[in-house]
Amino acid sequence: MTEPVVDVHLTPEDAAHALRADVRAGLTATPKWVSPKWFYDAVGSALFEDITRLPEYYPTRAEREVLGRRAAEIASTTGAHSLVELGSGSSEKTRLLLSALRERGTLAEFVPQDVSAEFLRDAAKAIMADFPGLRVHGVVGDFTEHLGMLPGESPRMVAFLGGTIGNLIPQEREKFLHSVRDVLDPGEWLLLGTDLVKDSEVLVRAYDDAQGVTAEFNRNVLRVLNRELGGDFDVDAFEHVALWNAEREWIEMRLRATRAMHVHLSELGLDVEFAAGEELRTEVSAKFRRDGVRRELEDAGFELHRWWTDDEGRFAVSLARAS
Ligand SMILES: C[S@@+](CC[C@H](N)C(=O)[O-])C[C@H]1O[C@@H](n2cnc3c(N)ncnc32)[C@H](O)[C@@H]1O
Repeated sequence: MTEPVVDVHLTPEDAAHALRADVRAGLTATPKWVSPKWFYDAVGSALFEDITRLPEYYPTRAEREVLGRRAAEIASTTGAHSLVELGSGSSEKTRLLLSALRERGTLAEFVPQDVSAEFLRDAAKAIMADFPGLRVHGVVGDFTEHLGMLPGESPRMVAFLGGTIGNLIPQEREKFLHSVRDVLDPGEWLLLGTDLVKDSEVLVRAYDDAQGVTAEFNRNVLRVLNRELGGDFDVDAFEHVALWNAEREWIEMRLRATRAMHVHLSELGLDVEFAAGEELRTEVSAKFRRDGVRRELEDAGFELHRWWTDDEGRFAVSLARAS
């Protein structure tokens, strides 16, 4: 089978450099943190796919419900020639958009972009197999840094699905939305998936499932640090924590040290102490309200054109036009 074209804007050397800088900053801070982008090695990406199928993890199903219902309308409204997907992962739900745009007869190219290189290649190959004749142009890159280098034929639609925008803290979100706006021409489109504020028990369960898959996903980041940075984290000595921060309206995932530990990362020449019970923040997942999404989009130079939710009002998909 023909291989997809894949541009690499984040080489393994760049990624290693960024990982080192990030981890040094995060593990020497108080409180300690690690960026969620390092979850997604091949194992982490596969674990995320498992999460999307868990009974407690409603966002994927809710977003698919909206896309299934609205894909034809999205295709006719945007008439997109290129669909650019940021943080594309498996691009499973995106198939609904690709089919609708093809049916509409406008789609020329699909540009999936992700930090997870191997997973991106496999996903791009699978799309090529199922959409014969579609140009698939993958990009290995960091959506917080490499947007200016995205290919695509106008009019473009940038899709950012899965509620991944919630993993950015507000200042990062603002910068990110401005940078998406900067690469688009007026009249081009952003399709944004956002998880919505709801009952905190439902939210916490979605990030702390009964089978412990999310716990494994969370702990996997320590395996990444052990492998890539010569670390000696005792992975099983950290327990998974998911809690709702009502003030910030976000879920926080943390890893709690079950005993005092000394961790050495040989590649960084770094020694880190964990007190018993100390927590390392690994992810925030912000939850949104319509007014907030509209305001953030408008501040970045977008006009909210459509806002759709699933029947239970759990998850929203916004279609916004670059002003
Ligand atoms: C929560 S998953 C969502 C995957 C998919 N879009 C979905 O809706 O199921 C986040 C995805 O974004 C990717 N990712 C995380 N941080 C990234 C970054 N800074 N730049 C590019 N991709 C990133 C991950 O590798 C992963 O595929």
